[in-house]
Amino acid sequence: MKKYLVIGNPIEHSLSPLIHNYWIKKYNLIDYVYEKRKVEEENLGRIVEEVKMDVLKGVNITVPFKKKIIPFLDKLDITATNTQSVNTLYKEDDGQVIGINTDVQGFKASLSKYHAKNIFVLGAGGVTSSIVYHLSLTANKIYISNRTREKAEKLKNEGNKWALRKNIEVIDWGEKPKVCDLVVNTTSVGLKNDENLGLDFKEYENNKNVLFYDLIYNPKETSFLKDARLRGNKTMNGKKMFLYQAHFAFYKWMGIQPEIDDKIIKLLD
Ligand code: ATR
Repeated sequence: MKKYLVIGNPIEHSLSPLIHNYWIKKYNLIDYVYEKRKVEEENLGRIVEEVKMDVLKGVNITVPFKKKIIPFLDKLDITATNTQSVNTLYKEDDGQVIGINTDVQGFKASLSKYHAKNIFVLGAGGVTSSIVYHLSLTANKIYISNRTREKAEKLKNEGNKWALRKNIEVIDWGEKPKVCDLVVNTTSVGLKNDENLGLDFKEYENNKNVLFYDLIYNPKETSFLKDARLRGNKTMNGKKMFLYQAHFAFYKWMGIQPEIDDKIIKLLD
């Protein structure tokens, strides 16, 4: 039996098993299984040990452990090093357990049709560094705003170490950049149906050039996206990014590039 896991806390709502088991079946991988496991922080080391012993062949890491797992790993790839965020583990041929970050690739793939230049990022939590990391390579300017400003400042300082163009700026919560063509919500606000960030974006009314992107995919339309749609902006939820980060993890583990077809897109609805 080749066993794969997604770990987090909470984990009940994770849709990763649905996707990976769909691909495992589709590509006829006999004796492979992907499960979810709720883990306490003190057991992170044991998970890495299980990868080392081949009890687990691969692990996805979700909230709140993407950073906390790092001290237990033998090595990181360059993206995980820079973002200090790991979402995928496996054992390399040399016996070392490596942590990689496929959220960056997932975010990049989800935005392949867009070429945003001035970007407004809301939040400075665990996943935000992955978003800023990709954008720093393609954007003219990235404005970060977080309710707790110091966390945004910290992210900017980290980011400017790898952002070639040193193009990250922090703005106060409630302020907005004058020019902007992409607004990304990386906060957890909206996971519960009635939650609202309480920001107003009136100045972007009827502007079809602004894409409002929420990393949340469940619910499908957060109030952040609903307001944007009613305001006349473009919208996108986090489903594509979620599917693509899974796609790249599956490829690393299995050597198969799993297809993202209509059926799997519907599975998440
Ligand atoms: P962590 O900070 O542990 O990585 P996270 O869930 O990844 O947690 O991130 C939560 C993000 O959502 C943070 O940017 C958080 O803002 P703070 O840093 O100020 O806590 C943001 N967030 C959560 N609730 C919020 C709210 N009610 N209004 C605005 N931002 C909120």
